[in-house]
Amino acid sequence: ATQPEASRGEAEFVVVANRLPVDLERAEDGTQRWTQSPGGLVSALEPFLRARNGAWVGWPGVPDVEVDEFSDDGMVLHPVSLTSAEVRDYYEGFSNATLWPLYHDVVARPIFDRGWWDAYVRVNRRFAEASASVAAEGATVWVQDYQLQLVPTMLRELRPDLRIGFFLHIPFPPVELFMQLPWRAEIVRGLIGADLVGFHRPGGAQNFLWLARQLIGLEPSRGSVGVRSRPGMVQVDDRTVRVGAFPISIDAASLDKLARTKAVGERAAEVREELGSPKKILLGIDRLDYTKGIDLRLQAFHELLQEGRVEPDDVTFIQLATPSRERVEHYQQMRVEIEQMVGRINGEFGRVGHTVVHYLHQSVDRKELAALFAAADVMVVTPLRDGMNLVCKEYVAARHDLGGSLVLSEFAGAAAELSSAFLVNPHDLDGVKSALEQAIKLDPAEGRRRMRALRRQVLTHDVDRWARSFLEALGAGPTT
Ligand code: ADP
Ligand code: G6P
Repeated sequence: ATQPEASRGEAEFVVVANRLPVDLERAEDGTQRWTQSPGGLVSALEPFLRARNGAWVGWPGVPDVEVDEFSDDGMVLHPVSLTSAEVRDYYEGFSNATLWPLYHDVVARPIFDRGWWDAYVRVNRRFAEASASVAAEGATVWVQDYQLQLVPTMLRELRPDLRIGFFLHIPFPPVELFMQLPWRAEIVRGLIGADLVGFHRPGGAQNFLWLARQLIGLEPSRGSVGVRSRPGMVQVDDRTVRVGAFPISIDAASLDKLARTKAVGERAAEVREELGSPKKILLGIDRLDYTKGIDLRLQAFHELLQEGRVEPDDVTFIQLATPSRERVEHYQQMRVEIEQMVGRINGEFGRVGHTVVHYLHQSVDRKELAALFAAADVMVVTPLRDGMNLVCKEYVAARHDLGGSLVLSEFAGAAAELSSAFLVNPHDLDGVKSALEQAIKLDPAEGRRRMRALRRQVLTHDVDRWARSFLEALGAGPTT
């Protein structure tokens, strides 16, 4: 039964994510300002929630601050505070040094620390309580991502009246890897509290169904899960939990529109000129994360230069890397390695007045992003594993001129949809090199043919379609 002490809120639609869509920035002089939070989750969900006037429960991005609920252009933001110790143990620790590497195919070694787990449980409970206090009677609550996998069941205990969805933005790992986790059954039990558990790919949904049987003795349906169709079903007491695949996307129309503006066109031309008008511009845009394969693509580029297959005077590589999780050790190591590689390539192949690799450890605004996409002849996206990867879809949406080509890792979720890209196995360096070379030397007519096919996919499968298909499967009613 509903617990009488649980207070009710007014929001009919609530998103719960580790981060709010905005981060609080505190300058040395004590002034504060809000900036957009990094990452694909926020890029995808923010425009959607804004249009629906929903509420967003999340952490303001800095430790030890208490911020009251406030409203931002129709959207209610409900901050959840974390102490410095919780940021260390729950966010940097369990979320980003245990779950993140474990779910990304163990490309770095996950650390299993019991103290971090305790913090994860505690913080998940705080998010569940905050969500319970914000949601109206019978509201829809949509919990997001790996940091909050215990929230669905915790929230259901507090508020059985709610309709609860969960979506995982990162890959769900092969069962052999998931089974390493000392708290594997607790995670599955945490997720099963949702009415719908969503993944990017059918494989993730199927892995989860298998684990629900093996670890907590449920009896899931056996048919294969489709994309946006044929969800798996599990009976949990008197509830039916659905488990499905919903590949996320971007607000393609708005990026297409932005890329068509005069300002973006002019800025793209200016970028090319500032680089000394190279024949070809290669571009990488990522959070600085060891899953993204930034080192691999630099190594491939370096070897192409060394072998004379690419001329340093003809080609410039721009690598933009947003600072991310800077206190986690693997991220620090990766940054050092990438910056050394950039230095080595420029040392060997640069000239005074001509840098071969332009490396920026910064974020840029949407207009600059669109201009870089428009200027780039080859977009290089080479993650070792990525749930979806939105950058490659953004590139496609920005190329209304049908110019440019995309080199994309098979291990990004997006590869299943973007089959007209140059697909590569990022572990196969020779394969990456030859794909880069082909993309650089591509016949323009063939490039247009590929880009047209890519655009057909991205423009018709946008983030709105993703959210609608998820919410319809959740039974959350009309969503416009
Ligand atoms: P992830 O969620 O792992 O960071 P995605 O590719 O799914 O990866 O999403 C990254 C998002 O962050 C995209 O919307 C991309 O445009 C944005 N982004 C990445 N790097 C930068 C940057 N340097 N400046 C501005 N935006 C960036
Ligand atoms: C990925 C994750 C998100 C996360 C984002 C940025 O997209 O799926 O949950 O918010 O990266 O990472 P950060 O740790 O800075 O929130």
